[in-house]
Amino acid sequence: MSERHFIFDGCDTVALAQKYGTPLYVMSETYIQERCAEIRTDFLEKYPNTRAVFASKAFQTLEMCRMMKDAGLGLDVVSGGELFTALKAGTDPSKIVFHGNNKSAEECEMALENGVGTIVADSWSELLLLDEVASRLGKVAPVLIRYMPGVDSHTHKYISTGHEDSKFGFSRRALLFEGFLSQAMALKNVDVKGIHFHVGSQLTENDSHLLAIDSLTEFLREANETFGFVPRELNLGGGFGIQYSGDPARKPVSYFTDPMMAKLTRWFDAQGFAMPSVTIEPGRFIVGEAGITLYKIGTVKTTDGGRTYAAVDGGFPDNPRTALYQAKYDAVAIGKPDAPQEGVTTIAGKCCESGDILIWDAPLPRLERGDYLAVLCTGAYNYSMASNYNRVPRPAVVMVKEGTDRLSVRRETYEDMIAREL
Ligand code: LLP
Repeated sequence: MSERHFIFDGCDTVALAQKYGTPLYVMSETYIQERCAEIRTDFLEKYPNTRAVFASKAFQTLEMCRMMKDAGLGLDVVSGGELFTALKAGTDPSKIVFHGNNKSAEECEMALENGVGTIVADSWSELLLLDEVASRLGKVAPVLIRYMPGVDSHTHKYISTGHEDSKFGFSRRALLFEGFLSQAMALKNVDVKGIHFHVGSQLTENDSHLLAIDSLTEFLREANETFGFVPRELNLGGGFGIQYSGDPARKPVSYFTDPMMAKLTRWFDAQGFAMPSVTIEPGRFIVGEAGITLYKIGTVKTTDGGRTYAAVDGGFPDNPRTALYQAKYDAVAIGKPDAPQEGVTTIAGKCCESGDILIWDAPLPRLERGDYLAVLCTGAYNYSMASNYNRVPRPAVVMVKEGTDRLSVRRETYEDMIAREL
């Protein structure tokens, strides 16, 4: 009896696993394009003078950069490496936002020489560095200042970024009372276009974003009264959550952007200032649910304690998120998605590391060596965070779209892993 297989964007996932091998990252182009279309309709076309940049750190490949260009989005990059990839892919540099809490002189130079449209300055020493590098190159650095809104967002502490103790950005006190804003405005080779904030990642409610807007407008009021500062550009970061196992359904982008835009429009109108241009930087929202990872099951065993482990041919090296953030995933036995559940199975990785577990206690049918498994919702921060721990080669990436598939990144080889060693 042949069983139904799990279909993803029109493709038989067992056939994909057999064609390309496992572990395998599979990304749905349809899903990515749908999210970009949603951002265009419900944000870019709804509000004049707005921009969206994809946060490359969530998933960056040359093909992804080109897809974002075609979708009308710019790119957020956080390192020379991400900037290099974006430029290689032909991204319009004016649509690149360069982040990072510790940019090197070389990275600042690379950004300025290539005409990057926005550099988000994270500290006073970085502003001085940008001023110096820009002066040397005979340029003016287009800068947003990263503002720390003092909002403690409800997410894992490793992905919360906008709170008082965060390593990112300037506090209101530093900008207003230590004088860093006015000093930045006085730098000859730096143009302070406006302000950036990012409250945190995987936020499923909009309250942190809205509190950050209140904090921002309060700061802008004081910045205007004290220094006559009026921003020409605001960047509200990303952080729009998706649906991991047990989470509420993903909310539309407008759930976050509409009330933020309403607050900002009201405030700028009331002050009699022109509404600045507004940028958002979603990463996970665009790619998270677009990706799944396919594995083959090897060892299956039940411990004396009664826990059943099924080990896959990948794990921590291709998805460190369970170990790092206690992330929760769902899985499907893709060769027998309709088989009845039999208890719970813990999906273990293949690394020499007790913490290498992908899913604790997943409700699944009984698994056997040779079965295929898909872990869902792995499109964000998996490929981009993958490592070679235990010298496990990184998986290939396959793009699927309405029943078609194509290799986007080839599987890493053992030779690739030693290629840089002398
Ligand atoms: N903009 C800035 C300045 C950011 O720092 C980030 C994420 C984003 C935008 C995009 O955030 P998103 O829309 O993807 O939530 N590795 C962690 C996530 C770290 C996020 C860091 N910054 C994880 O796997 O959950």
